Amino acid sequence: MSTSTQKGGAAATHKKPAASSSEKSKTKSGSRANDSKLQEFFHDEIKDIYWAEKKLVQTLPKLANAATSEELKNAFTQHLKVTGEHVTRLEKVFDILGHKPQAKKCDAMEGITEEGASVIEDTEEGTHTRDVALIMAGQKAEHYEIATYGGLAQVARTLGYDEVASLLEQTLKEEKEADQSLTALAEGSINEEATEE
Ligand SMILES: [Fe+2]
Ligand SMILES: [Fe+2]
Repeated sequence: MSTSTQKGGAAATHKKPAASSSEKSKTKSGSRANDSKLQEFFHDEIKDIYWAEKKLVQTLPKLANAATSEELKNAFTQHLKVTGEHVTRLEKVFDILGHKPQAKKCDAMEGITEEGASVIEDTEEGTHTRDVALIMAGQKAEHYEIATYGGLAQVARTLGYDEVASLLEQTLKEEKEADQSLTALAEGSINEEATEE
């Protein structure tokens, strides 16, 4: 009995910001005064992934440099180009939301990129074992991005930010492609070649 009361209470609290559609349109046109908690959270998360993408722009060349096989170098270099577009796309998102682009340190991506740097230290140059390690490090970053963009695109739809959602979904699709191409490299030959070292 007390559970149903709690549920009702929670639903009522949640409905407030979503029901206020005038707040949504105000935010789209740039006003921040009436942002709901969900809108604030969304904006904050966009700052977080913006920082993460910029961090990856710095990190991907290091991964490409450290890679042994040409295909893996190319995969990282190719994804660097795409990542630059992700940064630009997020700047478009800030613009649509009526905010200036602002980065907020993403502790998760900081950790993931630190781990990338440490696998370079821990593996020998010119080996396929290093490539195996780099692929795994790269995929950890991609999976973080996939989780983030998937969630953000959903929230954008919920908030009625359809144009923003489409932009985030485009990036989500490209993160999944990057992840798949790394899997293909690992399964194609790199893992197997590493067994001979
Ligand atoms: Fe990205
Ligand atoms: Fe990515």
